[in-house]
Amino acid sequence: MSTEILMKPKTSKKTLEDLLTEKRKFAPPKKFREQANVKTEKIYQEGKNSLKFWEKQAQELVWSKKWKKVLEWKLPFAKWFVDGKLNVSVNCIDRHLATWRKTKAAIIWEGEPGETRTLTYQQLSREVNRFANGLKSLGVAKGERVVIYMPMAPELPIAMLACARIGAAHSVVFGGFSAEALRDRINDCKAKVVITADGGYRRGNIVPLKQNTDEAVKETPSVTHVVVYKRLGKTQNTPWTQGRDVDWDELVANQTAVCPAEEMDSEDLLYILYTSGTTGKPKGIMHTTAGYLTGVKTTTKFIFDLKDEDVYWCTADIGWVTGHSYIVYGPLANGATTVMYEGSPDWPDKDRFWAIVEKYGVTILYTAPTAIRTFMKWGEDYPNRRDLSTLRLLGSVGEPINPEAWMWYHQIIGKGRCPVVDTWWQTETGSILISPLPGVTTLKPGSATKPFPGVEADVVDEQGKPVKIGAGYLILKQPWPSMLRGIYGDPERYKAQYWSRFPGAYFAGDGAKRDKDGYLWLLGRVDDVLKVSGHRLSTMEIESALVDNPKVAEAAVIGRHHDIKENAIVAFVTLKEKIGSNGAADREEVINELKAHVVKKIGSLARPDEILFTAELPKTRSGKIMRRLLRDVAEGRALGDTTTLADPNIVRTLKEKYEHLEG
Ligand code: WT7
Repeated sequence: MSTEILMKPKTSKKTLEDLLTEKRKFAPPKKFREQANVKTEKIYQEGKNSLKFWEKQAQELVWSKKWKKVLEWKLPFAKWFVDGKLNVSVNCIDRHLATWRKTKAAIIWEGEPGETRTLTYQQLSREVNRFANGLKSLGVAKGERVVIYMPMAPELPIAMLACARIGAAHSVVFGGFSAEALRDRINDCKAKVVITADGGYRRGNIVPLKQNTDEAVKETPSVTHVVVYKRLGKTQNTPWTQGRDVDWDELVANQTAVCPAEEMDSEDLLYILYTSGTTGKPKGIMHTTAGYLTGVKTTTKFIFDLKDEDVYWCTADIGWVTGHSYIVYGPLANGATTVMYEGSPDWPDKDRFWAIVEKYGVTILYTAPTAIRTFMKWGEDYPNRRDLSTLRLLGSVGEPINPEAWMWYHQIIGKGRCPVVDTWWQTETGSILISPLPGVTTLKPGSATKPFPGVEADVVDEQGKPVKIGAGYLILKQPWPSMLRGIYGDPERYKAQYWSRFPGAYFAGDGAKRDKDGYLWLLGRVDDVLKVSGHRLSTMEIESALVDNPKVAEAAVIGRHHDIKENAIVAFVTLKEKIGSNGAADREEVINELKAHVVKKIGSLARPDEILFTAELPKTRSGKIMRRLLRDVAEGRALGDTTTLADPNIVRTLKEKYEHLEG
């Protein structure tokens, strides 16, 4: 990690100067402010006493036993709301059944082919209780793990909430991951049961979830049962393993809708979610019960200004943390109506998102910059075909939003009427930590603005000294309730990864800039983590997948700036043997083979955009690959400092070769 990297974030071609000179400002519209859940700056004062602030928020939850102490902090291990007892499914469901919300829509679901299902809180309760009893009948007990590999169907949150109800930790694996990636995650957490479906729809195609699961569980000794939800229907010829596979409908058919909720400790594990870090092996991020729920409930209410009348839609996939916190747990804990959509934004046409906003009268929309940039490319006609007048608030997450995309979102989707909340957080942080409060904060296009009340963030230099105005590394100086409790099975890695770079502080892996008004501008990752269309990937993970192929001797992967996806994946590869005599055709064949190999090892989300063969990789004298210089090559820049290289000629040759190919 060097300052040079920081000055050239992987994210944007904009220079720091461009950001510093951003002059446009948008104060909260009066009408919005008057009705907002948070109307004044006073809340930031309250947040200064962070323990008191979070304790007040935790009081909004339903507890079966109150905590004894707000925080026990043994750096870097935190316990929040010590000795408190509660259950997440009670907070997301049961508490609403005693109110008029019993008949309110909890989940509005739209399948890609166009079907609609609405579940009231009462109906959701029945489904969750029956499925929870079903899981128990398969022998799943409190403290065990369940892996969920499902399409975006209501059964996915039902399965999660059922796990929470009986005290089993879930680990949701995104449907775009391959059989091998699924297998590794099941084995890492030793799941007893896998819940999947016969398939899901994506761009009219069928996602082969059951086939992948069958492949995966060949090598997962911990798994006793696979529960299969028939999303596609009985017409599908789904391969079936008697004794192991269980049909979801048959499992719940004879179960009652009463399953007493397990009383959970504040610090009991709620879920594990695997994410990519700076090594080849994904990390199982652990989130526990009370602190996590406090974080997501509070941020959803304050940042999205959630009200009972809202129709709230977060377009993420539940396979990622955004879906966990802001489709399922945050909205349901607030008794909101949350929309779920199964498929792709361009199916059957490029106005699908706007058709959904119109159809359900969506009032709050939360999506990603990569999607917004795609919509910009498709043009204004698509949103303009639809009635978007119900929208009142827009959100963005996943990567830095460039000011152009922010303005387009604000003007074309929000018609200048809706505040845009750019929310910064991570799988590890559990909930949003840096964001405007829409009724309070004056917005600047492209800035996530300020830390949430009760959160203490800073921008520091290499030595950990605060940078008053300018660029540095983003750190968090105090524990927060929804913070990760560690990496599953690897406490040492947790310490080294997050708490060692700047002693006493959490290092997020992001660069950030602070302007003269104290606003924060996120600059993207400064480590070996990539964002590709909002998906988080590790360069090392892709490199491991490449060298797993017998043809490959060595590989270096970098993220090249991409106008829509943020990063494109470029792999520099040295082969063990020379490519055949057939020149270009042979090269093409090997490239395709290697791309397919990465897809098999990780999933289609990690398929390299470009593969370039090279006789050698640029390395330092101590043998470290200089990825920074490879990025210079791939982005067509003058080469940075090459003085530490063992042989500077290698990278020069590579640059010429690349320019030749590009030209
Ligand atoms: C990384 C975390 C948790 C949300 C989904 C992504 C980047 C996230 C922003 C933002 C700039 C952002 C960071 C972060 N990121 N939100 N508003 N502005 N960058 O979760 O997959 O764990 O990725 O996403 O680089 O470290 P994730």
